[in-house]
Amino acid sequence: MKFFIDTADIDEIREAISMGMCDGVTTNPSLVAKTGKTFKQVIDEVVGLVDGPVSLEVTTTTYDEMMSQARELAGFGDNVVVKLPLTPAGLKACQTCFKEGIATNVTLCFSPSQALLAAKAGATYISPFVGRLDDVSTEGMKLIEDIVTIYDNYDFETQVLVASIRHPQHVVEAALMGAHVSTMPMK
Ligand code: E4P
Repeated sequence: MKFFIDTADIDEIREAISMGMCDGVTTNPSLVAKTGKTFKQVIDEVVGLVDGPVSLEVTTTTYDEMMSQARELAGFGDNVVVKLPLTPAGLKACQTCFKEGIATNVTLCFSPSQALLAAKAGATYISPFVGRLDDVSTEGMKLIEDIVTIYDNYDFETQVLVASIRHPQHVVEAALMGAHVSTMPMK
């Protein structure tokens, strides 16, 4: 299983790389804001440093604006993965990105049916949020099991990227279920 580091902090990324634990990075606008740097500064630092996929999230909700941001973000490096929300507009943008050869991480997935839609739209990665499901008294890891089964049943190429991880046991369970990637905070 691949380990992605869920951070925009360059020191944390360097630390993970030094231990051989960084197969990629996922960011979101909150993580970027925490660094105190501009989005452009973070992109320049992280995209060049990481030898693997770097997810950068769009910050808008309409299809046209998502595609405009997606094309701009994709221009920052071959390893950029455009993070799109799992909404109707996000799925439409996902399908267009697929046709244009732009890698995508469809995020904020909370159900197997949403994961099926994302795979059909051509998502490179699907990000189910296990911790946030646990937060509302729903078994987050059951969602991973269901998505892995559905994708296996139909040979979808979309990779299961387990997100919103809260503790090491989430990672172990994800590995046992055959998820492709876990993204987690450095700590
Ligand atoms: C992943 O890409 C997300 O940024 C992240 O896992 C969200 O986790 P949270 O629920 O701890 O905010």
